[in-house]
Amino acid sequence: MSDVLITEDVWGEPFAALAADFDVRREPDLWQWPAELIRAVATTRAVVVRNRTQVDKALLDAAPRLAVVARAGVGLDNIDLVSAAERDVVVVAPLGANAISVAEHTLGLALDLARRISQLDRAARRGEWSRVAGIELAGRTWGLLGAGATGMAVAERARAMGMRVVAHDPRVSRGVDLVALDDLFRHSDVVSVHVPATDATRGMIDVRLLSLMRPDSLLINVGRGEVVDEGALLPALRAGRPAGAALDVRAEEPPQAGELETLDNVVLTPHVAGITAESQARIASALAHDIRAVLTGGVPTGAVDARAAS
Ligand SMILES: NC(=O)c1ccc[n+]([C@@H]2O[C@H](COP(=O)([O-])OP(=O)(O)OC[C@H]3O[C@@H](n4cnc5c(N)ncnc54)[C@H](O)[C@@H]3O)[C@@H](O)[C@H]2O)c1
Repeated sequence: MSDVLITEDVWGEPFAALAADFDVRREPDLWQWPAELIRAVATTRAVVVRNRTQVDKALLDAAPRLAVVARAGVGLDNIDLVSAAERDVVVVAPLGANAISVAEHTLGLALDLARRISQLDRAARRGEWSRVAGIELAGRTWGLLGAGATGMAVAERARAMGMRVVAHDPRVSRGVDLVALDDLFRHSDVVSVHVPATDATRGMIDVRLLSLMRPDSLLINVGRGEVVDEGALLPALRAGRPAGAALDVRAEEPPQAGELETLDNVVLTPHVAGITAESQARIASALAHDIRAVLTGGVPTGAVDARAAS
């Protein structure tokens, strides 16, 4: 029996403070065991998840006392928002709380690819002293697929590096030069992906869009792995178009090591773009506040509107 059940690796001082007033049960590996998870939610009033716990109809039906699902992060594709709303379960997520972290990581990946930092690091460790020329990002064009919180945080930083920024996002009308999807891929030197996984975005970056990319361009995915067709990306990278790719998110996580892992023009990170000490502190604080609010009859500040998020 618990008031608050944490099913993934989420913690911090704000949750410890919550534990002073509520029964908080912390099971960081529970997301991996669906039968145990279903049993554990039977009595709980709040569930705290990252992106691996599937908050689906089965889980919601098994949790008759559940009042709030707290998502430690931004993508909501693991939560059935409509079913939660139908059961009066509030979903809270600190939207935008990790935008700076994602943006700094994205810039880091672009600089890594442009200057081949990871590649040269591997070579230097092998004893090679290969002084190949990199490229400068200043004066080039950065294209954003998705211009929400993380995309716009990248825009600000790319402009500070002397880059022109364009974006494709049907829901955004200002703050950045908007272009058609094909033009984004045709004219950008760096394309970074900041869209959620939806029916419209799954497999969106396919053979056709990749073929539009400039020969010296770079592709960075910090949105969702399913958006990039990895089967199409592999031959595209072998052909040098794009010249390099950095993937923080993968179609399957963790991925099976395959051919992408063997390419020197690929940089891979394990879905950590949004994870910094600062973002985790902001997220824990916002979630603990909202859980307390819901459990005591107050109003949460980070409730997600199921219709707006779809
Ligand atoms: N790698 C990480 O650690 C990490 C961290 C945070 C977020 N994310 C992912 O990045 C996504 C974006 O995060 P955010 O905070 O910027 O979210 P956000 O909701 O602020 O922005 C997402 C933007 O994508 C746009 N969009 C949706 N469908 C589109 C389409 N078909 N074409 C073009 N644009 C489209 C939306 O209009 C919105 O402006 C999240 O949904 C999440 O999946 C990953």
